[in-house]
Order: sequence, then C-alpha cells, then structure tokens
Amino acid sequence: MSLTIPLSDLKDGAPTRVDLDGRAVCLVRLGGTVHAVDDTCTHAEVSLSEGEVDGATIECWLHGSRFDLATGRPSGPPALTPIAVHRATLTDDGTAVTVELTSDQTDERNRA
Ligand code: FES
Repeated sequence: MSLTIPLSDLKDGAPTRVDLDGRAVCLVRLGGTVHAVDDTCTHAEVSLSEGEVDGATIECWLHGSRFDLATGRPSGPPALTPIAVHRATLTDDGTAVTVELTSDQTDERNRA
C-alpha cells in the first residue's frame, strides 16, 4: 500500500504524521526532498513528529536523541536503535510525493 500526498500539504522543515497501512510515519519535507521515517522513537513510545527538525535530523522531544532522516540512525543516547526509513518518491510532475513502507518493514509487521 502507498500514500500520495501533495507537496503543498507538507510545510518545509515541519514534521507531519501520517498513517500508512496501520503504521505511523513521519514525513519531513526539506526543500524539494521528502523523508519518510517511522514516527515512533525507538527509545520509548513517543511521536517524533512532535519533535523539532534540525538540518537533516529530527529530535525526539522527550529525551533529545536525534535521528538522521536519511539513514534513521540516532546520533546518540538514550536511543540506540535506528528508526525505519521508508520510501518517498516524488511524482513525475514534482507536485506530490508517494510514500511506501520499505519491504522489510512490511515483512516485519506481517510477522507480528
Ligand atoms: S523517548 Fe525518544 S529519546 Fe527517549
């Protein structure tokens, strides 16, 4: 399953939470690029889209771990586990983005 969202619905540098196939996903538009990552911090059940975007990272508002939006890796504790990075592809006309869960995340969810 995928979700297509007009780019105009995403404010530059502001995280947006969407639900994709039952999974909370955080979208971050940085200019003409859109990142899609899991919305739940890997340290605790906290929504990352309520945090701040700083450069190409998103900061968890509860304890301050920052996650790289391209790789999902945390920059430091307390979070040690990366968040999942999903596929975000601009449409041919560049006016919208299509978001898909990465296949390994889909597999993981199906095993649960
Ligand atoms: S809940 Fe996110 S760093 Fe602790």
